[in-house]
Amino acid sequence: MHKSGKYINLSAYRANRPSWALPEHDATPEAAFLNRRELLKGLGMGAGLVAGIGGTLFDAGQAYAAEDPSAGLYPVKRNEAFKLSRDITPEKVNSEYNNFYEFGSHKQISAAAQSLKIRPWEIAIDGLVEKPMTIGIDDLLAKMPLEERLYRHRCVEAWSMTIPWSGFALSELVKLAKPTSGAKFLRFETFLDPDVATGQKQTWYPWPYVEAVTIEEATNDLAFMVTGAYGKPLAKQFGSPLRLALPWKFGFKSIKSIVKISFTDTRPKSFWESLNAKEYGFWANVNPEVPHPRWSQADERILHTGERVPTLLFNGYGEQVASLYEGIKGEQLFR
Ligand code: MTE
Repeated sequence: MHKSGKYINLSAYRANRPSWALPEHDATPEAAFLNRRELLKGLGMGAGLVAGIGGTLFDAGQAYAAEDPSAGLYPVKRNEAFKLSRDITPEKVNSEYNNFYEFGSHKQISAAAQSLKIRPWEIAIDGLVEKPMTIGIDDLLAKMPLEERLYRHRCVEAWSMTIPWSGFALSELVKLAKPTSGAKFLRFETFLDPDVATGQKQTWYPWPYVEAVTIEEATNDLAFMVTGAYGKPLAKQFGSPLRLALPWKFGFKSIKSIVKISFTDTRPKSFWESLNAKEYGFWANVNPEVPHPRWSQADERILHTGERVPTLLFNGYGEQVASLYEGIKGEQLFR
């Protein structure tokens, strides 16, 4: 039995296992993807246009904002302390290649994700804090100092992107929550609504999606709560209206569409760790020298250009985060 009290049907899980649990890490069948683009082109549609819910056409590159009352807040000022030596991944490429298992265990979930209702949206902040609260996303946005940062994004599947995220430092939310002295971890939870997110009907997954960090990680400058991208509110497929970005860790730590943040003294078990702790651990820091049990992490494919480049320790952010892990013994820090 899974810790959450749910039974995991292992044979169903194996038969339906996610792309990154397949023998080849870059498991999205590129050929099938390209064929699909060709098909759409043949139908006279731009590659970004796919049939959406109820048969309406939906342009993945324009999926933000229409119903989003926060649109007026963006673009926000770029914080020049967070720069990149790589080109920004085009918005369209990023918008059409996502991991969001709530909407399907493949990359082309952008149309399905449009069924996510992003208002009203409340976030519960509870556990070991002075003042537990439930706060609406727009009230939270009004309280937080928004800025733009250019971040790398390295998936455990060995592909990478570079993204202009907008949002606020996670440390600002920690300040708002006022954790008590016993708080050691932050546990994040995604919404649970199988009627909207039909992936959540797949009962072999331990829904809802959960992730966690230590309080030291949460208060590191790099830990970022994302509310926008590409100078606009966050598109639904990116995990609107609130997601995490932890650029020195594998992408699966960057949980989407957060509804609850709990401060706790016990290390929480994450979604992927519950499914396969040998392959997806708590720390999941990027390290080219520590292979995934079934593939190398030595290099990565830049999504837009297809170029393969060497992967960097802590995804290139060692200067900012390496000290967080000094003195930690007996832990698998890189998986
Ligand atoms: N959060 C939720 N709730 N559900 C998910 O399936 N996928 C994770 C992470 N956060 C995921 C999630 C993985 S595996 C990655 S690589 C990133 O989101 C993908 O983010 P992107 O689609 O914006 O590139």
